[in-house]
Amino acid sequence: MTSDSKGGAGRASGVNMWGGHFDSAPSDLMQEINASIDFDKRLYAQDIAGSRAHARMLGARGILSAEDVAAIENGLDQVLAEIEGGDFPFSRELEDIHMNVEARLTEIIGDAGKRLHTGRSRNDQVATDFRLWLRDMLDRFDGQLRDLQAALIERAEQHAETVMPGFTHLQTAQPVTFGHHLLAYVEMFGRDRGRLSDARRRLNESPLGSAALAGTSFPIDRHMTAAELGFDRPMANSLDGVSARDFALEFLGAAAICGTHLSRIAEELVIWSSAPFRFVRMSDAYTTGSSIMPQKRNPDAAELVRAKVGRIMGAQVALMTVMKGLPLAYSKDMQEDKEPTFDAVDALSLAIQAMTGMIRDLTINPDAMRAQASGGYSTATDLADWLVRVVGLPFREAHHLTGRVVRAAETRGLRLDELSAEDLAAVDARITAEAMAVLTVDASVRSRTSFGGTAPDGVRARAAEARERFL
Ligand code: ARG
Repeated sequence: MTSDSKGGAGRASGVNMWGGHFDSAPSDLMQEINASIDFDKRLYAQDIAGSRAHARMLGARGILSAEDVAAIENGLDQVLAEIEGGDFPFSRELEDIHMNVEARLTEIIGDAGKRLHTGRSRNDQVATDFRLWLRDMLDRFDGQLRDLQAALIERAEQHAETVMPGFTHLQTAQPVTFGHHLLAYVEMFGRDRGRLSDARRRLNESPLGSAALAGTSFPIDRHMTAAELGFDRPMANSLDGVSARDFALEFLGAAAICGTHLSRIAEELVIWSSAPFRFVRMSDAYTTGSSIMPQKRNPDAAELVRAKVGRIMGAQVALMTVMKGLPLAYSKDMQEDKEPTFDAVDALSLAIQAMTGMIRDLTINPDAMRAQASGGYSTATDLADWLVRVVGLPFREAHHLTGRVVRAAETRGLRLDELSAEDLAAVDARITAEAMAVLTVDASVRSRTSFGGTAPDGVRARAAEARERFL
């Protein structure tokens, strides 16, 4: 039913869910703006698990009879089977997943279904469902990011000695190894996993039993339902229980940061696979051709990963904006928490998996990397360091003198390692033939033996450690 078919004054047919002091059903427009079932049906499994835990607890506390609890559990089994079998009659008139499940349960088992809502509210229900769902997603992301790290570490080990230009300002700076470059991302994604697992730890408290906002007069056992649902403990304050959404904000923050990391490596793949670079070739599986330019191989998947972070950041801003300034406790505004979060979860999940596939499939072109690494005077710092170490010049002077060597090479159109001993001596007699050895890119990377530096042996050692830490 669409709102424009009947206009704002139209009345949705049928159900008046609020009984009592409501004479008629809501308008079509009200249903359109109010109903969340189209998206919150995604929480069905968590909603049913929460209801089951609640019913068992009500039974254990003598609030419901054993027969009622058994009927509820059987009925919930059937509801679950119907939803998963694709023949559950979802109804927008019943607003959301909570009322859809409860109404169907009551249809199946009769009065016992109507007793399920004793001592709870949709406010603590939705908070519980959403936490349970996001907890599952956090666990899934941990596995997905681990797979991505595994792919990166494997490629890093294969390319611990592959020399490429390292950049600052996207200007050739110093040679690094491709393995070293990839391991940088392993660290980033490791911190992303850490942020998500921090968020999980704080998320994992149970709102169930906060009821509408004040708690309940029934002798419920919140510790029991918390334990049954795998929460560490019940939330200590019922007002907070129903109105906190910082668990979702925290996820979105961590997701946005993870998205920035994904977008950076995606951008590098775009650059590296471009014709002027040709450092890598992306597989057919993650590229498209052009309908007019036969030579094209477009890195669409990388571009889309780069772009997906826009959605994730947008979701974070959207939910921050919804929550900002809301008075305690629950307000319907909070129903707007789910769509952006769902969208961000989907975008992040796709982006991580696509990136993992691209990294696994990547063909590396060491020759192109090496050629670029040798250009751009990338070993100038090595000469300056040599002048400090061997000649004993203060670094600033060595820097200046090296600049003159670079200019000499530049004027003659030569790379630094193409200068002869005479060329070097002509700039300054203190630069002996021995200096030539530090001007090659291999010597340069081999010399960077400081912890966390780019020397191949160090890269291999850090890769082995990364396996221990992350996989
Ligand atoms: N669909 C609602 C949501 O997502 C469930 C809670 C409704 N609570 C209420 N008092 N209307 O937030």
